[in-house]
Amino acid sequence: MNDNNVLSSEEQMEDVYEENIRPSLFKDYIGQSDVKENIKVFVEAAKMRDESLDHVLLYGPPGLGKTTLAYIIANELGSNIKTASGPSIEKAGDLAAILSSLEPGDVLFIDEIHRMPSYIEEILYPAMEDFTLDIIVGSEGNSRNIKINLPPFTLVGATTRAGDLTSPLRDRFGIIAKLQYYTDEELFAIIKRTAKVLGVEIEDDAAMELASRSRGTPRIANRLLKRVRDFSLVKGNGVIDIDITKLALDKLKVDKIGLDETDYQLLKTIALKFNGGPVGIESLASIIGEEVSTLEDVCEPFLLQRGLLKRTPRGRMITELGYSHLNITRQGTLFDFED
Ligand SMILES: Nc1ncnc2c1ncn2[C@@H]1O[C@H](COP(=O)(O)OP(=O)(O)O)[C@@H](O)[C@H]1O
Ligand SMILES: [Mg+2]
Repeated sequence: MNDNNVLSSEEQMEDVYEENIRPSLFKDYIGQSDVKENIKVFVEAAKMRDESLDHVLLYGPPGLGKTTLAYIIANELGSNIKTASGPSIEKAGDLAAILSSLEPGDVLFIDEIHRMPSYIEEILYPAMEDFTLDIIVGSEGNSRNIKINLPPFTLVGATTRAGDLTSPLRDRFGIIAKLQYYTDEELFAIIKRTAKVLGVEIEDDAAMELASRSRGTPRIANRLLKRVRDFSLVKGNGVIDIDITKLALDKLKVDKIGLDETDYQLLKTIALKFNGGPVGIESLASIIGEEVSTLEDVCEPFLLQRGLLKRTPRGRMITELGYSHLNITRQGTLFDFED
């Protein structure tokens, strides 16, 4: 880690904690093949031209591998990476300090870039476009603009919400990549790889069960694997088999398709309290006691992708599939009389 690391302590903890299971080369980065193949070409081309890689924007739900990919890009470029996070860059001076510490070819990774204040964003524009830093120094009445040349560098931005990025910022990224949910087969491969790194044995059917209950997300797959490993150590014989996996996942209240308690609360609230919706996300968040951003960034994308939830201009609605997944029939409609 370096001096310019302004990630929150929680994120830093997670980064340290995950350091050994985080792949550091393209070849170990499983899935996302379109994104990976393209970025590989751009990295290779930048190296051949001996130029810095164009700025890269990575977006998609949490846990799909944005931070991992940022580190891999730096590693494969043979560059240093400096990290920062949008909300923690509060003052112009914070960003100026980071930018002026960059060396030629460095990667600057800004996580949650959509949460950067707009007056900070404006400093980034000339930095990204012309590699210059325009800042005002001195106190009121005695201030002046100074221009500092920066070395060529690559900004890698990560966000869960590309839509929240202003268009001037988005337009300054030459490479924009959307990460997708992983297939069960890809998660299976990730789980097998992580198990190997952790030095734990997992049987294939157990790994497949875990994969199918990890809601398409490597971070969740790895987390569940660690918890199942604990169960197998205490309640089993240390080898992770299908029985211990099922037992652990049931204890952890992770359902057949990976929904957890918050997902259930969300769906049930819409179904039972709002007769299926539509209902606004703010009302849902206050009833469930979750942040709007958690519901929007973590729960909803997966529920939408699975077709259990629908977004309409008037609010969220549960779908027929959602009802049947909850094993609830819709109230007050013909649906009740059908069976
Ligand atoms: N394609 C991948 N192959 C293998 N492991 C992955 C992959 N993507 C993510 N992971 C694992 O999942 C965890 C979460 O990934 P991360 O990059 O932190 O997600 P994000 O930054 O998108 O929230 C990491 O610890 C990493 O080990
Ligand atoms: Mg991340």
